[in-house]
Amino acid sequence: MEYNMDMQSLWEQKSPTTIFPKLNKDITVDVAIIGGGITGITTAQFLKEKGYKIAVLESLRIAKGSTGKSTGNLYSITEYPLAELKSKYSISEITQILESRRKAMDFIHENVQKLQIDCNYKTQPMHIFENDNSIAMEKEYDIAEEVTIPFSELKQEEFPFQFKKGIKYENQAQFNPYAYTRAIAENLAGGGCDIYENSRVIEVKEEDSEITLKTAEASIKATYVVHATHTPMGVQLQYHTTLGPYREYGIAVTLKNNKYSEGIFWGYYDTKKYSIRSYFTKDEAYLICVGSAYKVGQAKDNKAHIDELLSFVKQNFQVEKITHQWGAQNYKPADLLPYIGEKSSGSNQYIATGFSADGLVYGVLGAMIICDEISGKKNPDSELYKASRHQPLKAAKKFAKENLNVAAQFIKDYALKGFNEKKSELSIGEGKIVQVDGKKLAIYRDQLGTVSAFSAVCPHMGCIVHWNNAEESWDCPCHGSRFNVCGEVIEGPAYKALEKKEF
Ligand code: FES
Repeated sequence: MEYNMDMQSLWEQKSPTTIFPKLNKDITVDVAIIGGGITGITTAQFLKEKGYKIAVLESLRIAKGSTGKSTGNLYSITEYPLAELKSKYSISEITQILESRRKAMDFIHENVQKLQIDCNYKTQPMHIFENDNSIAMEKEYDIAEEVTIPFSELKQEEFPFQFKKGIKYENQAQFNPYAYTRAIAENLAGGGCDIYENSRVIEVKEEDSEITLKTAEASIKATYVVHATHTPMGVQLQYHTTLGPYREYGIAVTLKNNKYSEGIFWGYYDTKKYSIRSYFTKDEAYLICVGSAYKVGQAKDNKAHIDELLSFVKQNFQVEKITHQWGAQNYKPADLLPYIGEKSSGSNQYIATGFSADGLVYGVLGAMIICDEISGKKNPDSELYKASRHQPLKAAKKFAKENLNVAAQFIKDYALKGFNEKKSELSIGEGKIVQVDGKKLAIYRDQLGTVSAFSAVCPHMGCIVHWNNAEESWDCPCHGSRFNVCGEVIEGPAYKALEKKEF
């Protein structure tokens, strides 16, 4: 199989990159927003309208993290089948989940119209279908009826894929999430809202009513801080023990027969879920497929996951050319709902995390709730998504599973002796964990043949990182931190880089 190690999504490659300055002087603001994805940028948009002085601090580039790697599908249901939600929530709570997501979708649509954002926004139907009996579709029909979301049963004669049973929801939408978020950021900057790129926050301290943040070159004093980082940074056990970090791959291809179906398609095949959509520019058409999810840092061979995705697409479509490949991460909460709002009771720090694979809509909903909470306005959805909630019964099974998985990984990795490799045995582009004087090192040989070495101990909470051979990164199997081959943080809760070592 062929691999595109560039790993840029279709959106990232098709749109110009933003250019915002790096923060290099100390500043004081009302609200510091950590993270420049759709959650952070939308929060900034709401708060600016209310007159707050804001700084957005993005560690890399605006919308180049999870936002720019998502599918661009906007839907009011969630990643979880309605029957799974019903096992934990009442019909009125599920109705509220769907309605709150619809509000966020409506806001995105209004924004596109108001700001005339060129992001290929289009209203589309959503289809969910199965070939493996993995979803009890009759139950989905029943619950959809109870929560009064309009739906119809899928009919084979009007559908482009083979399936056993399926459901269709009209009036969902698709867009280019990178173009959308970038346009808002560019529209927003200035007049009390400063946006900084390449400005990674490495420390947050809350004392009395003031919070101090630090980047490598500056410090920021803020009354409020919003953690719009996908998962909260630093050691925040109440969140990290209830979130499971997952990674999946995306590919974009062109088709020989030019048969690009329009709409959102979630297909279940052999217990695996694939998200399929088409994307059209003025003169090009692509088919995008995302799937093959696995727990971060726990794949034996990451390339095998891309192979599996490519095989699926080749089996089901007449692929002409594979144009893009990329990886994306999401965090699944133990009780299926995101954590949004005050980090803990009375704190001036706010969290928006645990979006599962539904982050575009939840990101905007999170921004709505947090903006209301900061400005003292009651938000009708605050209680449902409250970040500091504790739902022992709803979360128990998944909570135990995630934490047993983390504990097992920790024990297994420390018990393993690691390889007693010699430098010469490491191939170009290869990474390995080796053991030197009882310590585990993460070593990598670059394209010029130079070997780099870092402590393999994740600076977040001490698990051992694993080599990701598809994306050439060091991935932590416990809470999803990822580091590039220079040891620097790419994503996840770790603040610090891997420690450099001699080898
Ligand atoms: Fe938590 Fe590595 S991400 S220990």
